[in-house]
Amino acid sequence: MNDTPAIIERVSRMNEHYQRLHLTCDDSLNELKPGQTVLARVAARWDPYLREHWWPVAVSPNKLVIERPASFRYEPGQAVSLLGIVGQPFRYRRTLRNVLLIAADAAPTPLILSIAWLLTNRISVTLVLSGRGTQYPAQHLPKEVEIIQADEQLSWPNRVMTVGWADQVFVTTAADDELARFGQIWTLFRELRAEIPKGYLFGVFQPSLPCGVGACQACMIPLRGGEACLACVDGPAIDLTTVPLG
Ligand code: FES
Repeated sequence: MNDTPAIIERVSRMNEHYQRLHLTCDDSLNELKPGQTVLARVAARWDPYLREHWWPVAVSPNKLVIERPASFRYEPGQAVSLLGIVGQPFRYRRTLRNVLLIAADAAPTPLILSIAWLLTNRISVTLVLSGRGTQYPAQHLPKEVEIIQADEQLSWPNRVMTVGWADQVFVTTAADDELARFGQIWTLFRELRAEIPKGYLFGVFQPSLPCGVGACQACMIPLRGGEACLACVDGPAIDLTTVPLG
């Protein structure tokens, strides 16, 4: 885990809910992959305890693009300390043709970096947005992505077909009570599919990460059989067949 200094070169407003920060840094984050994140401390905003959990949406040599809620204020030229790389890359199947991404009443930001990687590897991508997810400015996404606006109950036309056609599913949900919300997703998929195989349905967990290195245990997620894992070390994407959701 490195502490990488970075500079915010540009701030671009996407809409009234989202903004993007364009950063330059050294090459220590060039290998960051979909699912992996950094913990940021912005100069002049001193919180002795919690760093901000930043999800890159684009990575290129010595550059990162970060998506943040528009309610936070950032300025070009601001210095930032980035602790990372945090977490594991999304575990894609070896043979993968169709991936379903779901932002269930939440920002799809943790899923965005994966889109370019999937499209480059000729894997088709469908993104379902519901509730607060529908505030996302989807016009910023590649036109190859199928965008579905679902209702509050996560219902959309041809839902059974979309779910059956997906080889893997990655879901973000609101962070207020992730286990309960992923429990609802689990119940829904149990109704839509005869079985949920291992490695098919992943919850992308976003608990607070005080340390990001497995030291404080604050991001613990219970697993079946009385086991547990840490979102910052084993996550953020956890196979929901391993989580006691009901
Ligand atoms: S954030 Fe400290 S163990 Fe995960």
